[in-house]
Amino acid sequence: MHLPVLFFMPISDMKPMSLLLLKLLFLGLSFVAGDDHKFSYSGFASTNLTLDGTASVTPNGLLELTNGTTLGQGHAFYPTPLRFHNSSDGTVQSFSFSFVFAIISLYNDLSSNGMTMFIAPSKNFSSAMPVQYLGLLNSQNNGNQTNHIFAVELDTFKNMEFQDINDNHIGIDINGLQSIQSHDAGFYDDKNGTFQGLGLDSQEAMQVWVDYNREKMLINATMAPLGMAKPKTPTLSANYNLSTVLTDVAYIGFTAAMGKINTRHYVLGWSFGMNGPAPAINATMLPKLPPRPHPKERRRLRVLEITLPLATAVLILSVAIIVFLLVRRHLRYAELHDDWEVEFGPHRFSYKDLFRATQGFDDKNLLGAGGFGRVYRGVLPRNKLMVAVKRVSHDSRQGMKEFIAEIVSIGRLQNPNLVQLLGYCRRRGELLLVYEYMPNGSLDKYLYGEVDKSTLTWDQRFRIIRGIASALIYLHEEWEKVVVHRDIKASNVLLDDELNGRLGDFGLARLYDHGVEQETTRVVGTIGYLAPELARTGKATPLTDVFAFGTFILEVTCGQRPIIQGTEDTQVMLVDWVLEHVQQGSLADAIDTRLKGHYNVHEAYLALKLGLLCSHPFASARPSMQQVIQYLDGHIEPPELTAHQSFQALALMQNEGFDSYIMSYPSSTTFATVSSISGGR
Ligand SMILES: Nc1ncnc2c1ncn2[C@@H]1O[C@H](COP(=O)(O)OP(=O)(O)O)[C@@H](O)[C@H]1O
Ligand SMILES: *[C@@H]1O[C@H](CO)[C@@H](O)[C@H](O)[C@H]1NC(C)=O
Ligand SMILES: *[C@@H]1O[C@H](CO)[C@@H](O)[C@H](O)[C@H]1NC(C)=O
Ligand SMILES: *[C@@H]1O[C@H](CO)[C@@H](O)[C@H](O)[C@H]1NC(C)=O
Ligand SMILES: *[C@@H]1O[C@H](CO)[C@@H](O)[C@H](O)[C@H]1NC(C)=O
Ligand SMILES: *[C@@H]1O[C@H](CO)[C@@H](O)[C@H](O)[C@H]1NC(C)=O
Ligand SMILES: *[C@@H]1O[C@H](CO)[C@@H](O)[C@H](O)[C@H]1NC(C)=O
Ligand SMILES: *[C@@H]1O[C@H](CO)[C@@H](O)[C@H](O)[C@H]1NC(C)=O
Ligand SMILES: *[C@@H]1O[C@H](CO)[C@@H](O)[C@H](O)[C@H]1NC(C)=O
Ligand SMILES: *[C@@H]1O[C@H](CO)[C@@H](O)[C@H](O)[C@H]1NC(C)=O
Repeated sequence: MHLPVLFFMPISDMKPMSLLLLKLLFLGLSFVAGDDHKFSYSGFASTNLTLDGTASVTPNGLLELTNGTTLGQGHAFYPTPLRFHNSSDGTVQSFSFSFVFAIISLYNDLSSNGMTMFIAPSKNFSSAMPVQYLGLLNSQNNGNQTNHIFAVELDTFKNMEFQDINDNHIGIDINGLQSIQSHDAGFYDDKNGTFQGLGLDSQEAMQVWVDYNREKMLINATMAPLGMAKPKTPTLSANYNLSTVLTDVAYIGFTAAMGKINTRHYVLGWSFGMNGPAPAINATMLPKLPPRPHPKERRRLRVLEITLPLATAVLILSVAIIVFLLVRRHLRYAELHDDWEVEFGPHRFSYKDLFRATQGFDDKNLLGAGGFGRVYRGVLPRNKLMVAVKRVSHDSRQGMKEFIAEIVSIGRLQNPNLVQLLGYCRRRGELLLVYEYMPNGSLDKYLYGEVDKSTLTWDQRFRIIRGIASALIYLHEEWEKVVVHRDIKASNVLLDDELNGRLGDFGLARLYDHGVEQETTRVVGTIGYLAPELARTGKATPLTDVFAFGTFILEVTCGQRPIIQGTEDTQVMLVDWVLEHVQQGSLADAIDTRLKGHYNVHEAYLALKLGLLCSHPFASARPSMQQVIQYLDGHIEPPELTAHQSFQALALMQNEGFDSYIMSYPSSTTFATVSSISGGR
């Protein structure tokens, strides 16, 4: 190296070349390609291009400027800068370059956005923008004289802002993307001089030659398909004094940029000549382009590219819908579970099963609506068992444990005259009770002919009375603890397939007792069945059940509702009405006329007597259910109606008792409303 020597030589002694070298050293530039620099690359495998952005050199030597990344841009630079100015007069020297490129898009006739080969003062393109700026410039510096950029663009988009002629053109750009001269991509045929168009995004490799003549200040740009000799007539030429544009020292290279259409811009070969023609690029040595998708495949990919976002949107939407449905399903089938319920596990039904069994609690499965809620017919999905599902709205957790313990434990023992409780389900604000299905519905419909059914015979009626009596004995005395039913009435007596009476709804009223504040005892039950003392004390006892049972007996025997709606707003209590018949000695007239006299007189009179006895206003005068059964079975004779003094009292007390009950009944409560409705039946 003679460099150290240079430093000790007087500057004036240095040759101009050495001086320049020194200048460059001070500038920090390692090397500037000189006046007649030339190169030719067929492939870039062994070259030292400077790359940035999405640019890379593929293993087989292709320069890939864009790799399909949306809005990507890539740059490749010849590693060393070139000196463009003539050292004696400072004008830009003649130069030529040539390159082989290919634009490979997923689509047949669409690609984004184009590429350039440029001469620029620096390798710093960090401010360049993609899409229509081709990775060369940006919206701020486009067209600015201080850019000192010369470029040849191969543009596949028609940008109105740059006054592009079409979407498939070659153009000469000075400092900006608005070409000073542009032309359809293609070439003029050497033989007949006609123009042959070339599709830039035809996926085929093509060659471009650019020549600048210093004297004429003429820029020629020529295109041809790869393999064809350079056509004599350039595709386009422009007169421009590049001395006003290019810096003395400048870099050459390529840019390419993408919009959204998946495109790859490739350079296969490149040659450059300063002050001379660009060396030929040996076409046989060029790297192979990646296998291009078959047109069909491309169409498929294009369809894919268009459908994919759509499919993604659809997928996201369907996932959202599925999540929504799952959440809704979760909410729809949501249940309440408490620790204490574990022991009742076998009696617990899943809400989903009940929902399915009743076809979503469809109105067509509605069996009826009672004081506690609606009752639906259902078929359990697991064992095809017919059930009746009662939905009881209940917000309070208070008393729920005791209630469930009670109904479940009662459900465990089977009494032929109780409607078997199969289980329950708890949800927020509601309790679902699953009973065995009683195909013949409730007794009241038979008694009052709401449905067109043949009236029950006396034998059937008496059997029902006896059945309900034995059910009550079971609840009051035979079960390990005393269970008060609290809502005995004809509509709570259901008939099985053999028309046996079965008592339903046991314990439900109790749930309501538990559910309210302790201070204000609220009466639960149905008007007409409520014992007078119940209105005063609010305390349900087996004897209040007996009272209701008495009314029930009279109902069945007389075929009358507990409160008889007379003409003009007058209401008569069934008990009073029967008592009147007793006093008038016309007991036979009290018996249901629908029986048309076909009844056992002894049994019917017994029933009337028992009904009155059980509905005695004085609790102490009422028999226990055990006694009632004995009367019914004829083991004991009931007291004679006329002779027994208590009936005199009964006659006196009846109205008063009911009136005082009316007075004390908290009519403003919701329950009063509900009870009134069921009492009105
Ligand atoms: N286990 C059952 N099988 C068949 N039908 C029933 C069953 N339970 C109730 N029902 C029907 O649903 C209606 C309403 O029942 P329910 O709520 O017990 O009435 P209420 O509250 O007035 O006693 C009854 O009149 C009856 O027709
Ligand atoms: C490429 O450049 C690096 C340093 O920039 C250098 O070490 C290497 O030898 C060069 N390779 C070629 C083939 O020029
Ligand atoms: C494209 O190039 C960029 C930058 O090098 C890179 O992050 C990205 O993963 C590349 N994409 C593909 C598809 O190769
Ligand atoms: C440089 O300019 C001088 C004077 O115009 C000219 O004689 C010479 O040929 C030029 N050199 C080149 C390489 O163009
Ligand atoms: C490139 O230019 C930007 C401004 O356009 C500047 O912020 C950045 O520092 C430059 N990078 C280098 C490596 O010079
Ligand atoms: C051109 O660029 C220079 C330097 O970046 C700036 O000072 C000047 O204002 C720009 N000119 C226009 C017309 O934008
Ligand atoms: C010119 O020649 C080319 C082939 O060399 C041919 O395809 C084209 O049709 C010719 N044009 C005319 C006008 O003859
Ligand atoms: C440019 O093209 C014209 C024909 O249009 C030709 O006369 C001229 O020699 C060409 N110049 C260069 C530098 O190739
Ligand atoms: C070309 O531009 C340079 C630099 O501005 C100038 O010196 C030269 O005279 C121009 N040439 C012509 C023919 O205008
Ligand atoms: C191109 O390269 C091939 C293989 O190296 C060689 O055989 C052929 O002669 C070359 N052609 C030209 C025109 O240099």
